[in-house]
Amino acid sequence: MCGIVGFTGTEQAAPILLDGLSKLEYRGYDSAGIAVRDGEKETEIIKEKGKLKVLAEMTNQGKAVKGTCGIGHTRWATHGEPSAVNAHPHSSDDGNVIAVHNGIIENFQEQREKLIKKGYAFKSQTDTEVAVKLIDYYYKKYSQQPIEAIARAMVRIRGSYALCVMFKDFPGEIYCARKDSPMIIGIADGESYVASDVPAILKYTRNVYYIGNMEIAKLEKGAVTFYNIDSEVIEKPLTEIKWDAESAEKGGYEHFMLKEIHEQPKVIRDTINSVVTEGKVHFDSVNLTDEEMQQIELVYIVACGSAYHVGVALQYVIEALTSMQVRVELASEFRYRKMTLNKKSLVIVISQSGETADTLAALREAREQGIKTLGIVNVVGSSIAREADNVFYTLAGPEISVATTKAYSTQLVAGYLLALQFAKARNEIDDEKYQMLLEEVYSIPDKVEKILTDKERLQWFSNKLINVSDSFFIGRGIDYAIGMEGSLKLKEISYIHSEAYAAGELKHGPISLIENGTIVISVVTQTGLIEKTISNMVEVKSRGAKVMAVTTTGNYFLEDTAEFVCYVPQIDPLFAGSLSVIPLQLLSYYVSIGKGFDVDKPRNLAKSVTVE
Ligand code: G6P
Repeated sequence: MCGIVGFTGTEQAAPILLDGLSKLEYRGYDSAGIAVRDGEKETEIIKEKGKLKVLAEMTNQGKAVKGTCGIGHTRWATHGEPSAVNAHPHSSDDGNVIAVHNGIIENFQEQREKLIKKGYAFKSQTDTEVAVKLIDYYYKKYSQQPIEAIARAMVRIRGSYALCVMFKDFPGEIYCARKDSPMIIGIADGESYVASDVPAILKYTRNVYYIGNMEIAKLEKGAVTFYNIDSEVIEKPLTEIKWDAESAEKGGYEHFMLKEIHEQPKVIRDTINSVVTEGKVHFDSVNLTDEEMQQIELVYIVACGSAYHVGVALQYVIEALTSMQVRVELASEFRYRKMTLNKKSLVIVISQSGETADTLAALREAREQGIKTLGIVNVVGSSIAREADNVFYTLAGPEISVATTKAYSTQLVAGYLLALQFAKARNEIDDEKYQMLLEEVYSIPDKVEKILTDKERLQWFSNKLINVSDSFFIGRGIDYAIGMEGSLKLKEISYIHSEAYAAGELKHGPISLIENGTIVISVVTQTGLIEKTISNMVEVKSRGAKVMAVTTTGNYFLEDTAEFVCYVPQIDPLFAGSLSVIPLQLLSYYVSIGKGFDVDKPRNLAKSVTVE
């Protein structure tokens, strides 16, 4: 969380920094700041509490700040409340070292005390100010060389960081250091950029370097040099980013979330086409051989947030198609469980950003235990993509809205294709069934498209939820997994209290919360389980709940029980989740905008959770 941007070149830096930060606001938005230097002059630092637009107004969209070298930051507070003092950039008292930081410095208290004994004073409550002053301390104590000072500080710091540092004695230069927090460096003619994520610089360049863990970079106008922790120069390959700049813009939609919902048919199709040719799934790029797939007994799916919900849905799909056992684990729990992993297992980690701290730690734990790992990842070159043994890239493109939609949908479809391929490689389904199921997967994009053309009824129904304070999502099997995602969507952007329950669990407690007017949204697509879920709907309705259902076309009898029914096209029930989730995404979107909230930037959340 937190977004950082840096620029050095011939153009004015402040407008570029503000523009880059606007693409990173999904990472945090409780305060923002920039530090810009005009040649040899003093660096100017402007920072304020609130969203980026406050900073943009203070600086006349950056035009009021002169200079061609600068760093910027948009904050998601960890240490210290959101305030101008705690906002980045932070500076040493004499302005010798100025920096922005993303991550958490775990031993900041200990380092702070040591620095206080050396005569340093602290203005903010942040861990970042400690890093700044530690670098300043080593700079002054030793050779007055930025690389050496940063390297010495890196050895003392525990935790995670992406740091961009400016030194008074080195105008026009930006120094960067990284450990477990994302950061990329872009290069163009006479200009150099650094950012937490690609969309921030996509408008200016597609040529990027991935700075590795415990590495340092020096940015000059149009040039970058990399160093290891021993201050030795190292070479890095330049990578061309394939995403186009427009894909990170709103493209005429009022909000990124709505745009991303509408992009789903395309990105699902792209993800399918990336591995399916001539009616077969080809996993060459994923690098898993049939032999490897045959030997696996157990699959652990490990993820956070919506990616975890994808795992819950995939558990049903994989277990239905193969004899492999599946365990779905929250990464934040998995990483600290003292368990010996099954040697004949595969750990699948699912992550849009590829940077979620807990998911990354879980991946490392699996690798340490010698277990093969597969990442389902969206961001090319991200930490998880680099560290997993195999990678299946979802082709969702840049996802900006904090509440995920298109990344979720592509993860789900990637999981279906994996499940199908496992089943085939292990001879657990015959060719006919394989082809039939593959056809069904192929039909998903068109069916999603169809749901999206008929959203007015949902918009109308969403008005009924605007004044509701509690809601429940119920379902069985895959419908339960989709309910979990629907419930998360609703609570995270509309701030309505919402819980998802396996419908059969209602009677074990939650039904006592049902009273007149409580909203219950029921997902009912799994043939064989429909009657059972209807019984649960009747139970809550008779206690006063207002019931809505999402079901498959043809199940018109649900109108006898539900006040509002939303139909999705027919599809094999294994893949119904890809369709039933769409109305739930739309519903949450309309409720949020109906309540007047900033749907793309919900309070207290950040898109990429790079701290524990
Ligand atoms: C945050 C995002 C969610 C996302 C989760 C995991 O909570 O708001 O949309 O599902 O992190 O992120 P990842 O990048 O690992 O998929």
